[in-house]
Amino acid sequence: MAILYDKSGQRITLHTRTTTYQMGIGPYGHLLHYYYGKRAEGDFSACLSYRDRGFAGNPYDAGNDRTYSLDILPQEFPCYGNGDYRTTSFRLKQENGVYGCDLRVKEVRVEAGLYTIPELPTVYAGTKEAEGAETLSVILEDAAANVEVTLRYGVLPELDVILRANTVRNIGKHEIVVEKMDSASVDMLHGDFEMIHFSGRYGTERLMQRTRLGEGRFTVGSLRGESSHQHNPFAMLCAAGAGEDHGLVMAAGLLYSGNFTISAELDQMGQTRFALGVSDEMFAWPLAAGESFTTPQAVLCIGEGFASVTHRFHDLVNHHIVREKQPGALRPILLNSWEGCYFDFDGEKIIALAEEAAELGMDLLVMDDGWFGKRDDDCSGLGDWKANEKKLGMPLKELGRRIHEKGVKFGIWIEPEMVNEDSDLYRAHPDYAFVIPGRKPIRSRYQLCLDFSRKEVVDCIADRIISEFRDVPLDYIKMDMNRSVHDVFTHAPEWADRQNVGRTLYRYVLGVYAFIERLHEAFPDVLIEGCSGGGGRFDLGMLYYTPQIWLSDNTDAIERLQLQYGSSFVYPVSTIGAHVSAVPNHQTGRVTPLVTRAVTAMAGTFGYELDPARLSAEEKTMIRKQIQRVKQFWNLTHDGLYDRLSAPEGEWNPADGTHDPDYMAWQYTARDRSEALASVVFIKTHCNAPTLYLKWKELDPDATYRLHLEDQNRELPEAWQLPEELPAMTGAVLMEMGMPLPYQPGEYNSLLIYAEKAKDGQG
Ligand code: GLA
Repeated sequence: MAILYDKSGQRITLHTRTTTYQMGIGPYGHLLHYYYGKRAEGDFSACLSYRDRGFAGNPYDAGNDRTYSLDILPQEFPCYGNGDYRTTSFRLKQENGVYGCDLRVKEVRVEAGLYTIPELPTVYAGTKEAEGAETLSVILEDAAANVEVTLRYGVLPELDVILRANTVRNIGKHEIVVEKMDSASVDMLHGDFEMIHFSGRYGTERLMQRTRLGEGRFTVGSLRGESSHQHNPFAMLCAAGAGEDHGLVMAAGLLYSGNFTISAELDQMGQTRFALGVSDEMFAWPLAAGESFTTPQAVLCIGEGFASVTHRFHDLVNHHIVREKQPGALRPILLNSWEGCYFDFDGEKIIALAEEAAELGMDLLVMDDGWFGKRDDDCSGLGDWKANEKKLGMPLKELGRRIHEKGVKFGIWIEPEMVNEDSDLYRAHPDYAFVIPGRKPIRSRYQLCLDFSRKEVVDCIADRIISEFRDVPLDYIKMDMNRSVHDVFTHAPEWADRQNVGRTLYRYVLGVYAFIERLHEAFPDVLIEGCSGGGGRFDLGMLYYTPQIWLSDNTDAIERLQLQYGSSFVYPVSTIGAHVSAVPNHQTGRVTPLVTRAVTAMAGTFGYELDPARLSAEEKTMIRKQIQRVKQFWNLTHDGLYDRLSAPEGEWNPADGTHDPDYMAWQYTARDRSEALASVVFIKTHCNAPTLYLKWKELDPDATYRLHLEDQNRELPEAWQLPEELPAMTGAVLMEMGMPLPYQPGEYNSLLIYAEKAKDGQG
């Protein structure tokens, strides 16, 4: 049993394989939080301390007892109005403008299996490791405020995760307004914590940030209508100084792709409250009698060190969030037309790319932006989802057929949520776009957002795209979104004169999900890759609908190391869209060896984004080998354990006296430890540099591993080439001392080192 309800002690304990979560019902019916940490038996209520703290409100039921205050006690679902002045997760306004709510436990229910939420993505139990999945529902009520709140906890014991979501229902006769409702909140009684989050900007998404908490509140989030390039709906609260393998780490992610907030508050008593949910800014959800609202789902996980949390999230995403017909199957290695020709192509050019792709051993040709409407640049055409047969020189169906004839699959780019003012769609339905009457809209990339909160808009776009693709031999869709949402005004007749921005933005996200579900229904065998100007909507919610997402428009192999590093804390290799592009790189002008570009892209779904016609014969030979290698190592890279081998903040570097590492490295390890692959990319080069050591992880300490250099920069002079076989070492030596990295002069070189357990007596 994962969930234990001790009625006499009024305690509820959730056990996973290595963690324990405990809460309890206090003497007056409040739901208090007792513990979340490593697996432990016992009654954690004994750890709460009761003292009169001054200026701390006491519930009326406590009589003259000034030691019982919800301003001090840890809680499961902090709400405004019960004497707690800290960050609240629930704020409710009555029809007459009164705020306040005081929730008490009414019922506790335990059921087998996991819950789902209508219209929203949720973690599914699946078959693998689903044994023992259970759901706890704690129903709270405030009869005076006319609300009932159900807190839900799904437990996947083998994965060490707890799935939180909350539902509020109006049980009165008058309208109430929910102004804030988080998906989860966890109070830690004491500890010195850092918040780790992933911030960035367009072209530079998810850089790891560590912030030591001081008294007060630290918040990240998005108000852009999408999860955003700037912050990610995933963060970790960790013991100060935690590293890959040490220090308590609590990780939390939201299965939601719109506005969100993640906050950590260190209070006056040294307690820390960590919470996440839909952003409450501009949010107000009216509930008429009988109506309810449910939050998106949050995933909570606790482990020792970052690596343990990463391993759990990777398994969770691969087997319980992403929906694939054949889990783990090789994803198509693609050639995308964008950086190869941008808007400048016709059908014959696309067919020529397909021929080259097939020749090089790739599986799929993706025709990116520019194939529809009037679209020779980004000023017009969005919304007109009809192939431009004049530009292509042929119907889409014929193009698809001829691409298939070349021996590769066919993929197409779309951006359904957007419209250009210069489009037939906008001219016919200006009310479909977010535009505030009487005000000129804010443009971004010359485009406006369609009102996906309206079903008729979603249906209109879905119908057009589905009918356009109906007879096309199509295998893949790249679904893009190239601006943040703005000018939120819905022209839906029922909402036209009572705008509610928070509700519209929330319904917008649900509209996006519904749109993708329609594509899945219409084209069940088509692979959909998500994208938002690169990684502006890379989150657990989108991964439920699109198993892979383009990580960033930044294809520079060296910059990508940092983006992939940050993303790897939660998102597995199988989700990370990564391509080899041409040099000088189109975003940074940097020149990197082809081998290094491939080593970096191998930590993702892998593909190319260049014009093969401009490649030399040697480069083509190398690419053919790279593709074979990616396929050969697919199971290892996509289903093995993924570990970061470079230090989170960079170790002290004796070569130049900085704290930046000379290299970035990561490792994929077979679950049975029989083989592993380490990728090393050198970022700096020095004269007479000290030897660098690579400490491997997760190997069998007693086994001997043969080490083979899979690839190296063949453009370097003969004298600088390295031997392919490296001295064999035991797992213990590789992990404890680390292997001395072979030295190779030159910038941005890389190593791909394959370690294979030697059979007994060999090595
Ligand atoms: C976005 C995507 C790119 C490309 C362009 C096309 O920027 O991230 O990969 O598809 O749009 O306009």
